[in-house]
Amino acid sequence: MNINGRHFRTIWPDPENRNKICIIDQRQLPHQFIIETLTCLDDSIRAIKDMHVRGAGLIGAAAGFGMYLAAINAPDHGVDEKLEQAAILLNRSRPTARNLGWAVERVLAAVTKIEDGIDKKKAAYKTACEIADEDAAFCRQIGIHGLELIAAISKKKNGKQVNILTHCNAGWLAFVDYGSATAPIYAARDAGIDVHVWVDETRPWNQGAKLTTWELQQEGIANTLITDNTGGHLMQNGMVDMVIVGTDRTTHTGDVANKIGTYLKALAAYDNNIPFYVALPSSTFDWELEDGTDIPIEQRSGDEITRISGMNDKTGEIETVRLVAPGTQAINYSFDVTPARLISGLITERGIVQANKEAIDALFPDKTKKLTQG
Ligand code: MRU
Repeated sequence: MNINGRHFRTIWPDPENRNKICIIDQRQLPHQFIIETLTCLDDSIRAIKDMHVRGAGLIGAAAGFGMYLAAINAPDHGVDEKLEQAAILLNRSRPTARNLGWAVERVLAAVTKIEDGIDKKKAAYKTACEIADEDAAFCRQIGIHGLELIAAISKKKNGKQVNILTHCNAGWLAFVDYGSATAPIYAARDAGIDVHVWVDETRPWNQGAKLTTWELQQEGIANTLITDNTGGHLMQNGMVDMVIVGTDRTTHTGDVANKIGTYLKALAAYDNNIPFYVALPSSTFDWELEDGTDIPIEQRSGDEITRISGMNDKTGEIETVRLVAPGTQAINYSFDVTPARLISGLITERGIVQANKEAIDALFPDKTKKLTQG
């Protein structure tokens, strides 16, 4: 997508030296646009864990390139061993994110079947690039399918503005390009549909306030920031036509883990008869999980709740301040699970599907078959 009119992906190999992987440091947005370079596995782990990069698809792509960086820093005879250690370390870095494990497994599978160490390194690079390219392509497809839903609402409203509520950032910053929840919105804009987005601020990390508003502004999409508690009120007053969110891990049965607070939005949407859609590439499905309560929920530092950072308008400096009395205890669950029964549908790269096992199996028979064959 575009930043000041120039196209960027969120992760890319340096064109002059592919042993350097470039990312946008998302901790600095929207105040500073800083490109950071990763050169080793530790850099990749730090970038994922400390959220320089974040969001389902981008964590997957960063993990793929992290495996590649681990491979090139290993002796030619020790690539497999190095990658097995790297897989363990990467998998621990963001436990809820399914794309992470999926990408790590994909690189491992591609590399272990090759004999020669140098060829293994080439295979790691090729696979990491494929993961990134596929993520962008799948999000683009999600946009094409999701557009149908927005177009239908626009038609029903005789072309009046369609109001879409989203939570957190499932935009292009959370993927390699396009985003999942935002892809249908960008497609609707391109189709000439009048869209407006209600953006939940998404405490405590404020992905909505810092990232979603910024990326929508960069793309010229009308949007309004709201506190996390406002959505229910807007829904009761007919100000939301649909909700689209992303997901960090979705079970085979359609239960959806997403940023903390998503469940409350789904409940409010259900009570107000507002369609609630989840957009995801198939790489976010956990084909082995049948029950959302089994999804590992990441807990992050309570400091993310007790402190807040932003730009000091007077000095132009980024500052962090404490919100609470010294010693205040805080617990920071990063994700919650929305049960499938509250979800109107899943928007995937292959089409829109009901959030239940039968429908998901019918759309992805190849993934399910692999599972039953072990
Ligand atoms: O903690 P994050 O920012 O990595 O969480 C991911 C998210 O941005 C959201 O949960 C998002 O809605 C799903 S990821 C596309």
